[in-house]
Amino acid sequence: MKAQGLPRHVAIVMDGNGRWATRRFLPRVAGHRQGVESLRRCVRACAERGIEALTVFAFSSENWNRPKDEVSGLMDLLLLVLQREVPRLAADGVQLHFVGDRTGLSARLVSGLAKAESDTASNTRLVLNICFNYGGRWDIAQAAERLVREGLPITEVNLNRAMALAHCPDPDLVIRTGGEQRLSNFLLWQSAYSELYFTDCLWPEFDEAALDHAIEAFRSRERRFGKTSEQVGGAQPLPLQSQVA
Ligand code: FPP
Repeated sequence: MKAQGLPRHVAIVMDGNGRWATRRFLPRVAGHRQGVESLRRCVRACAERGIEALTVFAFSSENWNRPKDEVSGLMDLLLLVLQREVPRLAADGVQLHFVGDRTGLSARLVSGLAKAESDTASNTRLVLNICFNYGGRWDIAQAAERLVREGLPITEVNLNRAMALAHCPDPDLVIRTGGEQRLSNFLLWQSAYSELYFTDCLWPEFDEAALDHAIEAFRSRERRFGKTSEQVGGAQPLPLQSQVA
C-alpha cells in the first residue's frame, strides 16, 4: 500500500468542551474557553508540521438552540478571539477566514470578522477557517442560490466555485474529538473523499501528540477516490504460486 504524505488540509469538529467543564464542576462556557487554548495549540502545531489549511467547527447553525447563556457565551468568546487572538495569529502568518452565515450576528461581530480577514489576507503560512454559524446544508444551499442569481447552470464545477471553502482544497483529514462518530452537518460537500478520524479525547485535551496520532492514522490509510487498490499503486495481486500456498 502506498503511504500517504502529510494532509494538506485538516478539518476538526471540536467536540467535548461541555463534558470537560462538567467533569470539573465548571459552567459549560469554561469548557469553550479552554477550547480556545486548545485551538491556539492546534494552530501552532499545524503550522509547524507544514499543514496548509486548518478548518474548525466553532458554532453550528443548530447551536442557536442551546441554552441562552451558552449561546451568548460563545458570541462573547468569538469577540474575545477577535480582540486577543487575531493580532497573534496575524503576526504568526495565519490567514483567517470566517465561514458561515453572518445574518443573525451582531453588527460589531460582523465588522470584526471582516477586519480580521482583511488584516490577515496577505499571510501565507497557514489558512485558518473558523466555521461560525455554519452548516454543510446551508453552504450547499447558499452556493446553489448564488448560481441561480448569477444565471449559471448548477453543475458540480460551478457549485464547487460557489461554496464557502472555495479558497481551499477539500479536506484530506476530518477529525472529530469527543467520542461521537458523525459529521453533524460539517463540510458535507467537501468531505466526500476525506479520511475520517474519531477520537474519545475531549477537545480541551487534544494536544500535539493527539494531532500526531491522527496524522499517523491518515498516513496509513489508502485513498482510492473510487479507483481500485492496484490503480492507485497499492496492493499488488499475489503471484499465483503464493496464492496456492
Ligand atoms: C462542542 O462541544 C463545541 C462547541 C459547540 C464550541 C466549540 C468552540 C470552541 C472550541 C472555542 C472556539 C470558539 C471560537 C469562538 C473561535 P460541546 O459543547 O458540544 O461539548 P459536549 O459534547 O461535551 O457537551
